[in-house]
Amino acid sequence: MNKVVLVTGANSGIGLALCERLLSQDPEGLQLCLACRNMRRAEAARSALLTSNPTAQIALLQMDTSSISSVISAAQEVRLRYHRLDYLYLNAGIMPNPQFDVKAFFKGLFSSNVITMFATGEGILTQKDGVTADGLQEVFATNLFGHFLLIRELEPVLCHEGRTSQLVWTSSSNAHRSAFNLEDLQHRGGAQPYSSSKYASDLLSLALNAHYNKQGLYSSVICPGFVMTNLTYGILPSFPAFLWTLLMPVFWLIRMFTNTFTLTPYNGAEALFWLFKQKPESLDPYAKYHSLTSGLGHNYTQPRKMDIDLETSESLYEKLLQLESEVRKKLQEKQKEAQNAQVHPAETDSS
Ligand SMILES: NC(=O)c1ccc[n+]([C@@H]2O[C@H](COP(=O)([O-])OP(=O)(O)OC[C@H]3O[C@@H](n4cnc5c(N)ncnc54)[C@H](OP(=O)(O)O)[C@@H]3O)[C@@H](O)[C@H]2O)c1
Repeated sequence: MNKVVLVTGANSGIGLALCERLLSQDPEGLQLCLACRNMRRAEAARSALLTSNPTAQIALLQMDTSSISSVISAAQEVRLRYHRLDYLYLNAGIMPNPQFDVKAFFKGLFSSNVITMFATGEGILTQKDGVTADGLQEVFATNLFGHFLLIRELEPVLCHEGRTSQLVWTSSSNAHRSAFNLEDLQHRGGAQPYSSSKYASDLLSLALNAHYNKQGLYSSVICPGFVMTNLTYGILPSFPAFLWTLLMPVFWLIRMFTNTFTLTPYNGAEALFWLFKQKPESLDPYAKYHSLTSGLGHNYTQPRKMDIDLETSESLYEKLLQLESEVRKKLQEKQKEAQNAQVHPAETDSS
């Protein structure tokens, strides 16, 4: 039977590279669903994939992970289209308005932390977050909460007796415990919402395993390494594309010292692709699976223990469930108001 694979943020970067790699391995044995917020970009991605795999089954799904109603209606559509989902890649992500701390960079350059700084971006990147129409912090909603809600909505197609399904989160080495606060899940009060959201996805993956393994659903986390994508180019928006190209030899040189400089989306998708071929029961729920590329360009996947614990992951899970029930309640109220406005337009206008 064909495997059904849904990838969020599939129209560019690491998500698109994963789709290419999956199709090149098994073009006939997959039903691929590209979940994207922008249908024009989604169509372009599908056309590009079909060019090299003309017989592939590639469906599109409109979904904005930062919007509660968009996630709920996309999930409804998935449940109608598919009886089961074998893989759900939770890959869409943003790092808005990144600020590059030049001072911290030069300080780090001459410190013992230099390799970690290059490998994880620790200490040199902050962001200015926004607020979504649902009143949630944008990075939290896009990178974490929208995906959490999607999983909850897709339970009927993800949990099946006698077979397994896999969730795979594209996390980051930029996921730091220090950026995360259980009392401020959405990171309203800090300047590192990206790091916080990625640390939260590491924690959430652990909790999902605790709650869903019995139902055949497994969750894993990967880090793609440092990859040149739209997200990376956004770190220095005024930096022209040709300068990035000029910098590539420097990056290749750095790769001699740190295998986390995967650089291309193809290399960055290594761990996502590797997980596709693993038995989920054999995976370590405390490990982050890293895409790594050697100085000579050899790709491989390596598990590394995450700095997470079950107690915090459970607390996060409980808080997400609580938030879920709040947003669902708000959504129902909004829908009721909209229905009332349709039935009694004059009353609503005058009130
Ligand atoms: N590049 C790196 O070095 C690096 C390192 C660590 C982790 N990551 C993670 O890798 C993942 C993929 O990023 P990338 O590097 O491949 O960057 P990218 O090319 O910008 O891809 C991000 C994808 O997410 C989609 N997306 C963003 N906001 C969305 C929303 N609200 N709803 C639905 N889709 C949305 C984007 O769609 P649009 O095209 O419409 O914007 C795009 O398809 C992200 O989770 C990122 O945090 C990247």
